[in-house]
Amino acid sequence: MAMIQKGTRKIELLDNSPIKEKCMELDVPFGCQSGLCGTCKIDILEGAENLDRLTPEEVDMGDRDKNHRLACQARIKSGLVIIRPEGER
Ligand code: FES
Repeated sequence: MAMIQKGTRKIELLDNSPIKEKCMELDVPFGCQSGLCGTCKIDILEGAENLDRLTPEEVDMGDRDKNHRLACQARIKSGLVIIRPEGER
């Protein structure tokens, strides 16, 4: 089982699935949804190891690493990942 948490809200999702739709439910802001605009940048506060490796779109953005992801691109493997939109710092 996989879980995304933002603040006090937690949402369950399937193992090995994209996190995009659940992040939308958690009010992460989105723009292009294709890895180009950076609107969906999130910090990974806990559980970075539970996300799949960076996608080519994230690598191309240049400032992404395992603790700084794109919510429209990242996939979860399993377990808990705690996120915070970069604009909420
Ligand atoms: S919404 Fe544009 S990069 Fe994710």
